[in-house]
Amino acid sequence: MKYFIHTYGCQMNVHDSEKIAGILEGMGYVATSVQDEADIVVFNTCCIRETAEQKIYGHIGALKKVKMRNPDMIVVVCGCMSQQDGVAQKIRESYPFVDIILGTSNLNSLKDAVQDAKRRKHCVKVDFEQYAEEDFNQSRTSYPNAWVNINYGCNNFCTYCIVPYVRGRERSRPLSDIMTEVKTLLSEGYKEITLLGQNVNSYGHDLPDGEDFPTLLKNIGELPGKFRLRFMTSHPKDLSQEVIDVVAKYPNICNNIHLPVQSGSTEILKRMNRRYTRDDYLNLIQKIRQKLPNAGITTDIMVGFPGETEQDFLDTLDLVKQAKYSSAFCFIYSRRKGTPAYSMPDQIPYEVKRDRITRLLACQNEVTKEISAAMINNKYEVLVEGANNHYANTMCGRTESGRLVNFKCDESYVGQFVTVQIEKAKSATLWGRIVTEEE
Ligand code: SAH
Ligand code: SF4
Ligand code: F3S
Repeated sequence: MKYFIHTYGCQMNVHDSEKIAGILEGMGYVATSVQDEADIVVFNTCCIRETAEQKIYGHIGALKKVKMRNPDMIVVVCGCMSQQDGVAQKIRESYPFVDIILGTSNLNSLKDAVQDAKRRKHCVKVDFEQYAEEDFNQSRTSYPNAWVNINYGCNNFCTYCIVPYVRGRERSRPLSDIMTEVKTLLSEGYKEITLLGQNVNSYGHDLPDGEDFPTLLKNIGELPGKFRLRFMTSHPKDLSQEVIDVVAKYPNICNNIHLPVQSGSTEILKRMNRRYTRDDYLNLIQKIRQKLPNAGITTDIMVGFPGETEQDFLDTLDLVKQAKYSSAFCFIYSRRKGTPAYSMPDQIPYEVKRDRITRLLACQNEVTKEISAAMINNKYEVLVEGANNHYANTMCGRTESGRLVNFKCDESYVGQFVTVQIEKAKSATLWGRIVTEEE
């Protein structure tokens, strides 16, 4: 019996797919890389932007013919899309060959649902539940990195964003559970732990006193052995000096901070309900640079939010130049039903959004090029992560600051720390060679 999982969206979903794989493997299924030969096909969906959603509906629709040829195939739709108002209903009506619809916190129902589906019984479950990670095994695919959830959901309600509606209110995992998982992963040989949450900095606000994000970082930072600790995402309104100090103090916590800005205009930030101003944000960058001068700071930026003027956009470009991000994920604002921004006046025409994203990408590209050029000839510690499949005998890995580097070596190096001297830079991509300490 074989399974195939389509994973869309962010790291949360990538990690949820590892849990889904673990559940299915526990039931005797094995992974296949060919969708059409699978006995179970899972769509782990994302609805952050309309483009993501349309693509997924297309992929689900395309499975109809396969299912007609193989009526025993079980089709599962889960993740953020199914949790949206009315979507489960729509899937039941328009894609009746889908057997199971699960929301973002119902993975613990998957096993029973699959057994029901074998008896031709449909299952729809999209309520918010809390499950313990320990309730099922995980089939991790990202060695030497391991994803670890620290909090689920989001309380921030940025006015453009669907996540609080589809992932529910913020719930923190007990600190002791996280520590147990991290210790197990390290003892299994994982070399990098990435803590996941929509807003890691508010971790613990719903837990007993003393269980907060800096405490969690310190506890992991104190663990023995050589490994790296990363975390994402940091909301600028909650990233405290204490967190910056802890990152500076512990050598195994990477100097790499993902700090989504969204816009460089205070007026737009206000309407986005981000709860910081342009100046607050730039001051925060300065605080980070002061304490962590070699930090790689990355961001998410959106163009074309309702009412964004040319001047607002120019403010964003100006902020990008000042912040000197090592990279930025840039998005065109997408109208999400059910969010406040959906009904805001002055929605921006597509051509204007298109023009702005092109200019934004060009601007960030210049910044990245400059940072990359300054890295040439320098040596960095890199954790070898895996093969670069486009080139023979080439592996890639990341610097502590989070920059991806390609270099020649064989697969036996995966999971090892090496020193790489940067030789050339093609904008975002760095190339180098492994050197010995003495070189
Ligand atoms: N919790 C994280 C973001 C999660 S969503 C944070 O607050 O930073 C990842 C990114 O998708 C966001 O940072 C934002 O830039 C983008 N995004 C969210 N909603 C969007 C929308 N409606 N249209 C376009 N981009 C969106
Ligand atoms: Fe969405 Fe804002 Fe929550 Fe991030 S913090 S998930 S952008 S509502
Ligand atoms: Fe992630 Fe998409 Fe859900 S970005 S949280 S998978 S809506």
